[in-house]
Amino acid sequence: MAIGCSIMAVVPLLAQYTLAQAGYGGGASTGIPGVSSFVAPAGYPTSAFSSYYPSPSGQEPQPALYDPVLNITFPRNLTNPDTIPLNDPDPVYYPQPIANLSTAAQQAVIKSILSEVSEIINGSSIQGNCSKCIAALSVAKSAAQLAPSLVPAAMVALCTSSGFHSASTCAEDFEASTFGAIWTQVLGLADVAGLDGQYICSSLSTSFCPAPGVSPLNMTGLFPKPKPANAKKPAAS
Ligand SMILES: *[C@@H]1O[C@H](CO)[C@@H](O)[C@H](O)[C@H]1NC(C)=O
Ligand SMILES: *[C@@H]1O[C@H](CO)[C@@H](O)[C@H](O)[C@H]1NC(C)=O
Ligand SMILES: *[C@@H]1O[C@H](CO)[C@@H](O)[C@H](O)[C@H]1NC(C)=O
Ligand SMILES: *[C@@H]1O[C@H](CO)[C@@H](O)[C@H](O)[C@H]1NC(C)=O
Ligand SMILES: *[C@@H]1O[C@H](CO)[C@@H](O)[C@H](O)[C@H]1NC(C)=O
Ligand SMILES: *[C@@H]1O[C@H](CO)[C@@H](O)[C@H](O)[C@H]1NC(C)=O
Repeated sequence: MAIGCSIMAVVPLLAQYTLAQAGYGGGASTGIPGVSSFVAPAGYPTSAFSSYYPSPSGQEPQPALYDPVLNITFPRNLTNPDTIPLNDPDPVYYPQPIANLSTAAQQAVIKSILSEVSEIINGSSIQGNCSKCIAALSVAKSAAQLAPSLVPAAMVALCTSSGFHSASTCAEDFEASTFGAIWTQVLGLADVAGLDGQYICSSLSTSFCPAPGVSPLNMTGLFPKPKPANAKKPAAS
């Protein structure tokens, strides 16, 4: 990371320098004016990369990344800004719903759950951040079980309307393609009234619930028979 950051920091500098030289990776052999080798400005971590792919003048330099373990040089397009995909092709998975509801029925479920959650958060029927959060999770769990594919958008809406985060951060945290579908799976399977609920609320904000303590290990029933009186470590094979 540190190397990446320092490279990012020198990129604008380098780009300017390259423009001025008008010949990064070009040089005498191609008839382009300028020098065929590049002298990096002071501070550039030249020792980090032994070679660079030729880049058009003015474009950021692309180190030819070599993996000494696998003995491969990663292809140029791995870091090529022109070929880096702009969309996320990862598939989105939702938990299996526990009932087959029509789209309209699913939307009705979400609407009613959103208003229930708002009532829990804003109302006074439940007191205390942790109790409110756990109660809201219990309601949200049924949304994840009945209308999973509609949950991410509902979470973004709730996050935004309650002022939990800025609209852009809410989208980043809860959209289906980022963490929304994963949160839906977690909600669908979590024991929200138990320890899971406390961990989830604490991970959303420690001002909701404190992080639960470590549970004592209960060894009863873990092993089929008691430990032998004079057990010895077996010889290494
Ligand atoms: C690394 O790969 C190159 C070409 O792919 C090969 O010529 C060379 O022998 C390899 N080096 C090692 C240490 O395996
Ligand atoms: C990058 O290059 C590799 C090897 O040449 C190729 O298989 C791959 O499709 C390229 N990817 C993109 C995004 O251009
Ligand atoms: C919903 O419908 C699908 C396809 O018809 C079926 O495979 C699934 O078992 C049903 N689920 C429930 C909970 O009824
Ligand atoms: C709680 O009430 C405030 C003020 O009426 C409102 O702006 C906010 O959106 C409500 N929060 C939720 C989660 O409904
Ligand atoms: C409860 O949560 C709100 C934010 O929703 C926060 O401002 C407040 O400080 C929290 N209360 C406690 C006791 O942590
Ligand atoms: C420990 O586990 C055993 C067997 O699962 C159970 O009967 C017992 O109640 C547990 N003890 C505690 C303190 O949780």
